[in-house]
Amino acid sequence: MQVNLSNKTILLGVTGSISAYKACDLARLFIKAGASVHVIMSASAERFISALTFEALTRNTVLTENSESWASTLNHIDIGKTCDVFVLAPATANSINKINHGIADNILLQTLLAYTKPLLIAPAANTNMIEDSTTLDSLRALKAKGISIVNSQSKLLACGDIGNGALATVEEVFYATAKVLLSEEYWNNREVIVTGGGTREKIDEVRYVSNFSSGKMANALATALYLKGAKVHLISTKAHDDIPLTINTTDVNSAEELKEATITALQTSLELQKERKVFLFMAAAVADFTPKSPKRGKTKKVNIGTKWNIEMQQTDDILKAVNQLGQITIGFKAEMDKKNGFSNAKSLIENKNIDGVCYNLLANSSSFGTTNNSITFITKDKSIDLGTASKLDLSFKILTESQKLAINN
Ligand code: CTP
Repeated sequence: MQVNLSNKTILLGVTGSISAYKACDLARLFIKAGASVHVIMSASAERFISALTFEALTRNTVLTENSESWASTLNHIDIGKTCDVFVLAPATANSINKINHGIADNILLQTLLAYTKPLLIAPAANTNMIEDSTTLDSLRALKAKGISIVNSQSKLLACGDIGNGALATVEEVFYATAKVLLSEEYWNNREVIVTGGGTREKIDEVRYVSNFSSGKMANALATALYLKGAKVHLISTKAHDDIPLTINTTDVNSAEELKEATITALQTSLELQKERKVFLFMAAAVADFTPKSPKRGKTKKVNIGTKWNIEMQQTDDILKAVNQLGQITIGFKAEMDKKNGFSNAKSLIENKNIDGVCYNLLANSSSFGTTNNSITFITKDKSIDLGTASKLDLSFKILTESQKLAINN
């Protein structure tokens, strides 16, 4: 997902791990997102990768033991002053343990000790080194100090062992950094539920009735909420491999499964968070009808004949089922009727007793699954045209309007 980090400056620290080469991809992701990137390398990191690579990628001189200068800002005191976040990726076990004890015996650790703004650490080391009790204690202590840790992953390590210790994917480090940069007090740790995708209603065990909803708007909303710092729970019928891995997800198929999962998630969130408002963004395209008696196994066409009449019955309305629980609810309404679409969308507020509606006028069935969307945010008193933008950018706008709505409620 294309996150915008323009106007942000990132200090990327690289230590001596075999995964140092992955920091090049990470720097590239930051730059593609519009950020400025400054790199500091420890002498051990320089044994794995050249400073020139980072210089070419970032267009900034890399701070190393040899490049430090007191005639410019390329020194361990000044380089951090203009940066919004310090990302240490990869961070070796040795560096992690030293940081925890305030040791500054190389240019990178000196810079880090002098740095006062948010710090994010992405460890990478052999399993025994990362799971050594000293390293685990250091990571716990650093986390307790408010430093963000992007946990290493288990896989085949460069040393040949299989186990925990590989650097998290560069996408995860990127998302975690963007979260540090974009999170906001209002959303931080707030419980939020997002539903998405079109439900699948079984005709038999191999066939279903569904709709064209792609689930992309819900994925974008869940990502925007994650970046704002919220505790998001995404309940969807669709793939969500383009969102941060740490987002809590539940996969569902039918309207009935979606209803059960939404009620359970809401009850849990409301229980966990009594002091603050919980939000529900109901972007799922819930089937209004489901086959009344889905068949077992695979129905053979010889047993059906040339026409197949399937008796359908109406599904429960999920929004109506949850509208007394006490959360702030935003519904979604896709319409094809240019004349009555807006008033149909607005009437949802009263009909389903919800707080706001995201209204989207569709041109035709190819309007589904696109990267961009157009949304009007409707409340009881007004409607705001959020314009046409990427689903992620629109999600940020929806969050801003939802926040205003909740505060004024
Ligand atoms: N919704 C729901 N439960 C249903 C059907 C829809 O909670 N059984 C929610 C959707 O997730 C969405 C909103 O209601 O947030 C859409 O409202 P609705 O008027 O039902 O829209 P459509 O189902 O598109 O209505 P219609 O098919 O009549 O146009």
